[in-house]
Amino acid sequence: MPAPEIALTERFQSAFVSAFGPEYADADPIIRPSQFADFQCNAAMGLAKRLGRKPRDIAAEIVAAVDLADIAEEPEIAGPGFLNIRLRTDWVAAQAADLAVDERLGVPVPQTAERVVVDYSAPNVAKEMHVGHLRTTVVGDSISRTLEKLGHTVVRQNHIGDWGTPFGMLIEHLLEVGEDSAEADLLRTDPNAFYQAARAKFDADPEATGFAARARKRVATLQSGDAESLRIWTDLVALSKQYFHRIYDMLDVTLTDEHLAGESTYNDLLEAVCTDLEEAGIARISDGALCVFPEGFTGRDEQPLPLIIRKSDGGYGYATTDLAAIRHRVADLQADRIAYVVGTAQELHFRMVFTTAREAGWLPDGVDAEHVKIGSVLGEDGKILRTRSGASLRLMALLEEAVSAARSVIDELRPDLPEAEREQIAHDIGIGGVKYADLSTGHDSDYTFDLDRMLALSGNTAPYLQYAVARIRSIGRKAAERGVSADGVAPLVQNDAERALALQLLQFGPVLAEVGDAYEPHRLCAYLFALAQAFTSFYDASPILAAEDESVRAGRLALAQLTERVLVEGLDALGVHAPQQM
Ligand code: ARG
Repeated sequence: MPAPEIALTERFQSAFVSAFGPEYADADPIIRPSQFADFQCNAAMGLAKRLGRKPRDIAAEIVAAVDLADIAEEPEIAGPGFLNIRLRTDWVAAQAADLAVDERLGVPVPQTAERVVVDYSAPNVAKEMHVGHLRTTVVGDSISRTLEKLGHTVVRQNHIGDWGTPFGMLIEHLLEVGEDSAEADLLRTDPNAFYQAARAKFDADPEATGFAARARKRVATLQSGDAESLRIWTDLVALSKQYFHRIYDMLDVTLTDEHLAGESTYNDLLEAVCTDLEEAGIARISDGALCVFPEGFTGRDEQPLPLIIRKSDGGYGYATTDLAAIRHRVADLQADRIAYVVGTAQELHFRMVFTTAREAGWLPDGVDAEHVKIGSVLGEDGKILRTRSGASLRLMALLEEAVSAARSVIDELRPDLPEAEREQIAHDIGIGGVKYADLSTGHDSDYTFDLDRMLALSGNTAPYLQYAVARIRSIGRKAAERGVSADGVAPLVQNDAERALALQLLQFGPVLAEVGDAYEPHRLCAYLFALAQAFTSFYDASPILAAEDESVRAGRLALAQLTERVLVEGLDALGVHAPQQM
């Protein structure tokens, strides 16, 4: 059951061979959805150039050569040589019937299943997860879910910031307040407050005689592997992890402890990164620091830009850790591709790290590494979202606010439902709404955080899609009450609205494949939105339970229930849950 584009592509490719010769077997027929028909083939113009002939003549030859009899009507030539294609309704109906019995809902099996490392979320220990981390978490999770549905193996890597100079200060603070104190408990509830308190003590000691001196010394003992320092550090990280996991649970995100691969994991590998790069002649000492000057990077002064891998005081940094991580991901985790779902601001860092890793041979040409750039979440003032006091916003508070706002929506919509169910639905809508707002915007664009819009029942929002699912489920319940069943019945595809809905449904597989290849969940959102709209038009035009004929009732119910399955599966790829009723 190939999707229409794929079926058409095959037919046109064989037409090219028979009309123009075997060297045209790989010419792309450029099949696109059309405003004038169902699809169009845009290949004639390019082929005409290649053949040195007139596009309209080429178009006519293609029409004569292509065998579409069972799929479509004869293509119409338009403009300079576009071919407009209208599919046969009986063919669309047959495809929809196949789709309805396909467990994969038309999602293609990949030619080669790949191992994809997805690096996402990556908050920092003893710091608030800010809305930026919310976005990398939500987008990375959707990419991971999508790749798994496509049949790839995903290795999730949560590259948390659990190492570096602030840990001296954090450990000293934890020692002072005591691990069982209310202050220490802040790590699990409001980590920023803990961090700020440690920072304040550090800054209050400019001469570095007391706290600051102890903090500096602590970094050194920690990095030299001192057992007592490591013990307190482990406790600090454990407390922080509880905070991350509370957020992940709230968000219904698939990250667990087993995916944690924090910066500290790579500690023992950093020295080898440096010596190997130095021995290979890729890194050299500059101003006392060990630096790589990767090809093609210059600063404002036109001087080569350094990637510092060992500071002059002997310390290693963020870039060194990422080089060790990439080595591990290719050599040990056996990655075929790696996606880094991280804020746009780190673009230069990743370009330099990837180039260095390629020069070193740690990232072979066959392994794709991509920085999936994540834009900012803005407040109403157009600046990065913060609380009124200017401090970074507590993510947990934001999510709680979304759920309580969703609670008012559902209380108004369905006061008849039991309390516990309304609570569950409020969670699904509130969290779904926030996640969907993140996902429906191109991942590298900024967007404005606006709860009212996120929770609106109309427009390209989670609640709109969740409502569409709930509506179909309610039709299903009524059908069952009246003894109407779609079991074993093929979806009815006859009138225009049914046909348009069926064509949308057939696009699910190709769209999901594109989303997984390009790491672009917003395209899935756009698709699901269009699908839900096609369902609404269908339902307005074609009554289901009120239809006169019994077979029409069952066939339309089958079409509606296929739509429900595709919507639920699509939302699941986004990590958004669809409640039973709304
Ligand atoms: N912890 C970093 C931050 O909060 C993000 C880490 C991203 N992943 C990586 N491999 N560098 O900005």
